[in-house]
Amino acid sequence: MLDKDARNDLMERGYSRRQLGRIAALVGGGAALAPFAPSAFAQSQAARGVKGAVQIGANECWTGPFPAAVAAGASILAQGNRYDPDDLRGKLIKTVATVEHVPEERVMPWPGSGDPLVRSVITFCSPSKGLVTADPTFESAWRAAAWLEAPLAKVPMAPGAGADVRKMLAANPNAGLYYICTPNNPTGTVTPLADIEWLLANKPADSVVLVDEAYLHFSEAPSAAPLAATRSDVIVMRTFSKLFGMAGVRLGLTFAHPDLHKRMMRYDGFQVTGTLPMPAVACGTAAYTMADAIRARRAEMIAVREATIAQLTRRGLQVHQNSQANMIMLDWKTRPAVEVQKALLAQNVQIGRNWPIWPTVSRVTIGSADDMMKFSAAVDKVLA
Ligand SMILES: Cc1ncc(COP(=O)(O)O)c(C=O)c1O
Repeated sequence: MLDKDARNDLMERGYSRRQLGRIAALVGGGAALAPFAPSAFAQSQAARGVKGAVQIGANECWTGPFPAAVAAGASILAQGNRYDPDDLRGKLIKTVATVEHVPEERVMPWPGSGDPLVRSVITFCSPSKGLVTADPTFESAWRAAAWLEAPLAKVPMAPGAGADVRKMLAANPNAGLYYICTPNNPTGTVTPLADIEWLLANKPADSVVLVDEAYLHFSEAPSAAPLAATRSDVIVMRTFSKLFGMAGVRLGLTFAHPDLHKRMMRYDGFQVTGTLPMPAVACGTAAYTMADAIRARRAEMIAVREATIAQLTRRGLQVHQNSQANMIMLDWKTRPAVEVQKALLAQNVQIGRNWPIWPTVSRVTIGSADDMMKFSAAVDKVLA
């Protein structure tokens, strides 16, 4: 249910009664998922691993959480009768604040980052305040905007480039939310911090910039966290689902001014972020300070990625340049990506989807060295 304040706020922002009904249903639970169902369901199916296949389709890590982090998570499971036996949520926030140099009151943990991503669109966009993103990018924000009937501007990316922030601002100079995923899913390309700073300096004061850094640990790019530590119009988002190998464990973070977090939370009274899965919290807290292990995992991924690109290039295939994350964009040129994806699955290799803007380009996640050898062998067969 929406309380009176929330209803008034939404009415003032231009929502119709019908739209309020949808939001109330979303806050209340599953019924509101109905309008999302076909595309969201398709994506959730795509993220499901096919048993026995090489799983390089969902940008997961090829291996699980660091062993010491697994042990920390496992040790909490036996105390699962308690919501938070020893202020573990507080310890996670302290740890993250120390590592990132972000004030504790600006750090918010979540069960994954998918919720705060969609919630940002719901909070800061409306039928009169649109969403602006690059294209291709992670589509979940698009679906939330469509569902809200908020104007959506998608600004095409050049292959190998980051988001074009000047074109993004021009596409809607008065948007509610500008979403920048860096490194970007699916291209792996980085949007320079200077460009994000330019956007912040030139956008309207009341619009918000969401910087999705899901893949940051795989790159050596600097974080936008210092901006979230000082400004009141930027949210930086992280997840433990990627380099930390915790996609099925569910933990994410946002860094933002407390007022932005409050606005995001006014529809559920901090319910989702206040009560977290404690094994995930303990696992993530242990992993967050393991700088050497993080570096080693990043180096391992980069070595495998570069070897994979070299092999594909030798074979005459075209890989888009400049991925700094655990994925590459592979252009099959003469064949639709959907067709090649199916053919590879028949070889027991599950690669990623394609985006409508580039119909012959597939996203391929970088798995283990062994996964990528199997992938290359399957490509040889499929293209023979
Ligand atoms: C860019 C980006 N943001 C957010 C998410 C959501 O991930 P999670 O909910 O597992 O944190 C994903 C998942 O693939 C992603 O690629």
